[in-house]
Amino acid sequence: MAGAPVTPVDAFYVRNHGAVPAADAATFRLRVDGLVDRPLELSLDELRDGRFAEHEVLATLQCAGNRRADFIAVRDIPGEAPWGPGATGTAAWRGVALADVLAAAAPRAEATDVAFVGADMAADADPPQRFAGSIPRRKAERREVLLAWEMNGAPLSGVHGAPLRVVVPGWIGARSVKWLERIELRAQPSDGYFQATAYRLLAPGETPAPGRGVELGEVAVNSDVLVPDDGARVPAGTVEISGYAFAGGERSVVRVDVSTDGGRHFAEAELLDDLGRWAWRLWRARVELAPGEHEIVARAWDSAAATQPESAAAVWNPKGYVNNAWARVRVVATR
Ligand code: MTE
Repeated sequence: MAGAPVTPVDAFYVRNHGAVPAADAATFRLRVDGLVDRPLELSLDELRDGRFAEHEVLATLQCAGNRRADFIAVRDIPGEAPWGPGATGTAAWRGVALADVLAAAAPRAEATDVAFVGADMAADADPPQRFAGSIPRRKAERREVLLAWEMNGAPLSGVHGAPLRVVVPGWIGARSVKWLERIELRAQPSDGYFQATAYRLLAPGETPAPGRGVELGEVAVNSDVLVPDDGARVPAGTVEISGYAFAGGERSVVRVDVSTDGGRHFAEAELLDDLGRWAWRLWRARVELAPGEHEIVARAWDSAAATQPESAAAVWNPKGYVNNAWARVRVVATR
């Protein structure tokens, strides 16, 4: 993924809580039900036959567990995937606006939440259950939220949710439910494990339980250094460093700072092309490195003037979500 504005499908991270379910596009049906006046059952052809306008959105997906490995270095988090910075990718997603499909189902006034249910059984849920999650109706009715069947111009692959997935730009990856089978309009968030118990921010010392902690939604401002690698040896002199920055929700990245002395002094990095409101912002900086060891640091700022916390230790939490601490790589510059 290093450096490319759009992540190739074969380099895009995969996060599955269970086995990839068998999919048959021909017999596939999407149900839309719950608090609606007109429940729907749609085949893939009906979704694509023109009654709903097609859209493409360039959007970054980021798992809430991105950069968990740096938390684990502070204190162990048993049973959770030790992600580096790679649980982030950007793709062109094509499909129809969820808003249009919801409108066809005529949601009732009391429907405040939109839940998505996948076809996969998540073995790591307690108890094992289908993967599911929900977003508030006010987000679900925005044009950028897609029911997508294409990723980077090709049909969705099995691991990324074929034949149909949700894409919720700016929100944690867990809400972009793959292998989508059912959309349920509700008067409260999904009560499934991945909404009520997992993907919630717990205070240190708390243990996961339904309803405990803060439900995660919009992605917090974050960044990482992708080049050079942590531990790399580079020739002393001018060295180019580069990476990504991303701000979820309605916010955008407005500045990225880099430091070569562990964060004592910062200089501004160059922001590369603006890829649109829902995509990451790549950046680069040229720095001078004398022979010896250096700690390179990056931190992004978003349009709410929020920036990243200095240390992972300060934001460590029991399930290891939302590590948006300063990005740090150590390099050795050689003569
Ligand atoms: N949808 C289903 N049905 N099952 C899953 O396990 N994982 C979620 C989300 N959607 C998941 C899912 C998580 S945690 C993330 S981060 C994203 O999918 C990852 O999407 P990707 O594998 O296409 O990168």
